[in-house]
Amino acid sequence: MNLLMTCLALFLSLQALPCTPCKFPAIINLGDSNSDTGGLSATFSLVRSPYGETFFDMPAGRYSDGRLIIDFIAKSFGLPYLSAYLDSLGTNFRHGANFATAASTIMQQSVPLNKGGYSPFSLQVQLAQFSQFKSRSRIIAKKGKVFKSLMPKKDYFKKALYTIDIGQNDLTELFFSNQSADDYIPLTMKVFSDVVKKVYKHGGRHFWIHNTGPLGCLTYVLLRRPSSSRELDSVGCAMIFNKLAQKFNEMLNETVTQFRKDLPSATIIYVDVYTAKYNLFRKAEKYGFEKPLRTCCGYGGGDYNFAFNVRCGDKGIVEGEEVLLGKSCSHPEKSIIWDGIHYTEAANKWVFNEIATGKYSHPSLPLCKMLEQSGTERRSVA
Ligand SMILES: *[C@@H]1O[C@H](CO)[C@@H](O)[C@H](O)[C@H]1NC(C)=O
Ligand SMILES: *[C@@H]1O[C@H](CO)[C@@H](O)[C@H](O)[C@H]1NC(C)=O
Repeated sequence: MNLLMTCLALFLSLQALPCTPCKFPAIINLGDSNSDTGGLSATFSLVRSPYGETFFDMPAGRYSDGRLIIDFIAKSFGLPYLSAYLDSLGTNFRHGANFATAASTIMQQSVPLNKGGYSPFSLQVQLAQFSQFKSRSRIIAKKGKVFKSLMPKKDYFKKALYTIDIGQNDLTELFFSNQSADDYIPLTMKVFSDVVKKVYKHGGRHFWIHNTGPLGCLTYVLLRRPSSSRELDSVGCAMIFNKLAQKFNEMLNETVTQFRKDLPSATIIYVDVYTAKYNLFRKAEKYGFEKPLRTCCGYGGGDYNFAFNVRCGDKGIVEGEEVLLGKSCSHPEKSIIWDGIHYTEAANKWVFNEIATGKYSHPSLPLCKMLEQSGTERRSVA
């Protein structure tokens, strides 16, 4: 109890500092580009400059100018940024692994990445990889020395924080292929539920589950939507996509509520990232951001600065010379949207600071208090 109070006091007084007494030893993450720290980039085409420029000074496998929410979560526990499981070079899995890849979906899709489709590493594939990681990391650790030092300790699988952020690509797929949300979303919930239950069987006990963000505020759907869905809200976001995201989120919340009954010894936090992000778009100026819907790293200028055929990092020939066309704006720290699809480091940091307090969570627990809530200290967490 003392520890708990200390942690809470520390958290309230020094929100930006790591919450040391309550840290998780490892993080295991599943998801899409919102939390991919290098998986897709290592596997297919390398993320290019100017991605990464704000924090890493070079492309760092992330679809942002800097860090993602998952990076800020790791930092808050005093852990290193997560290595991507699919990255075979220079990786360190001591404090967890990241199975997320950009363009991942909950439902396995048939259109491949090189045809404008999706990552082959759907949620169930990520689970299969996690399962291998868990068993094979033990075998590798037995080789000792450097091998051991790069693998998580055995008990970390039980003590780790399991974070999940996926669903955004399922929503674009279902919308643009004219599938019914009422048919499709329940299928995603079934898969999501199976995956979480398997992780629980593997020993996972602490889950931090993000819902999906306000899709209708992102340039790539705003500009792609058909004329039948032109309606914008007061912020300028496409209502039809935000309603779809909200529908998904309601069902996700129900699914998570059911987990609390089915997985009694787990602590499961549902994090309403949607509302945090939407509040940022809504009150952008108050929080130091300008033109919330304008893409920072894009092409074409105007209200959105986004073109489907010239993306962030794309080059072109101008007057006989090759130049960077999809380039960064001069103040990414004042932009919310980085490349038309993904958020800037500044936006990710803002969202992290909001959700870490627990005010967007159900049950309403600050991130750093989660560990004390589980096991013997677990009280009436609904
Ligand atoms: C979905 O419907 C729209 C409008 O009816 C149509 O233009 C589009 O081609 C359809 N997409 C698919 C994948 O069937
Ligand atoms: C999620 O569901 C719980 C009930 O389990 C409810 O109290 C809470 O308000 C819901 N959260 C959101 C953001 O809808």
